[in-house]
Amino acid sequence: MRIDVVTIFPDYLSPLDLSLVGKAREAGVLDLRVHDLRDWATDRHRTVDDTPYGGGAGMVMKPDVWGAALDDVVGSGADGRMPRLLVPTPSGRPFTQDLAHELAAEPWLVFACGRYEGIDARLVEDAATRMPVTELSLGDYVLNGGEVAALVVVEAVARLLPGVVGNPESLVEESHGADGLLEYPVYTKPPTWRGLDVPEVLLSGHHGNVARWRRDQALRRTAERRPDLVARLDPATLDARDREV
Ligand code: ADE
Repeated sequence: MRIDVVTIFPDYLSPLDLSLVGKAREAGVLDLRVHDLRDWATDRHRTVDDTPYGGGAGMVMKPDVWGAALDDVVGSGADGRMPRLLVPTPSGRPFTQDLAHELAAEPWLVFACGRYEGIDARLVEDAATRMPVTELSLGDYVLNGGEVAALVVVEAVARLLPGVVGNPESLVEESHGADGLLEYPVYTKPPTWRGLDVPEVLLSGHHGNVARWRRDQALRRTAERRPDLVARLDPATLDARDREV
C-alpha cells in the first residue's frame, strides 16, 4: 500500500518510522511518503494561509497551494491510478474500525493535513471531481491540525495489512473486532500480585469455560462502558446465556 501525507509539519509524522509501522515500511508492505506543503508555496515567505472571506477569527489554508501540491503528489502515481484522498477534520465522518478495514483495502491513500481554521472548501470540491474523497474525524473534540489524525489512521490501517501484525489471531479477538464487543480483561504471571488474584477459571485449563468467561466479561464491559455498541449488536449473534449477562 502507498500512503502520502501532505503537511506543514513533516516532523510530526516521524513516529511512523517506529514500531510496527516502521517495520511495515522496511518490509516494503507500506510505501509511506511525507511531503512539506510549503514546497508548493510561491512567495518568499512560503505562505500557505490567508484571511477568511466573510471575516472571523483565524486563517484559512490557500486552495492554490494545496491544489498544486495534490496535483504533483497524485500525478506521480503509476499508470494513471488515482488515490483516495483523506482530509482529517472535526466535521468529518467518524473514524471507526470498519472504516480502517475499508481503507486497508485501498491501494493508495493521500492525507491532506489542514491547520488553522481548515482548508478552503474548494479544495475538496475540486479533488472530488477526480478521486474519491473522505473527510474524517477522530472524535468529537478539536485538534490543532490533521497530523495527529493522520498518525492514528495510518497506525490503525497499517496493522490490518497482511504480514504487519505477527499473529493475525490477535486482530480477531480485540476490541471493535468482528463480534462488535469490547475486549475482555487479560492477565499474565504472577497469579497473585499485590493481593489481587488472576480469575480462577483462567488457571483451570478448561478451554470451554475460559471462552465462556471471556465472552461474559466482554458483554458486561461493553454494556457498562458502551451501551451504544450493545444496541447495535445483531440479536442473531447472541445465545441464551449472552442475554442473561
Ligand atoms: N483536525 C482537528 N480536529 C480533528 C479531529 N477531531 N479529527 C480529525 N481531524 C481533526
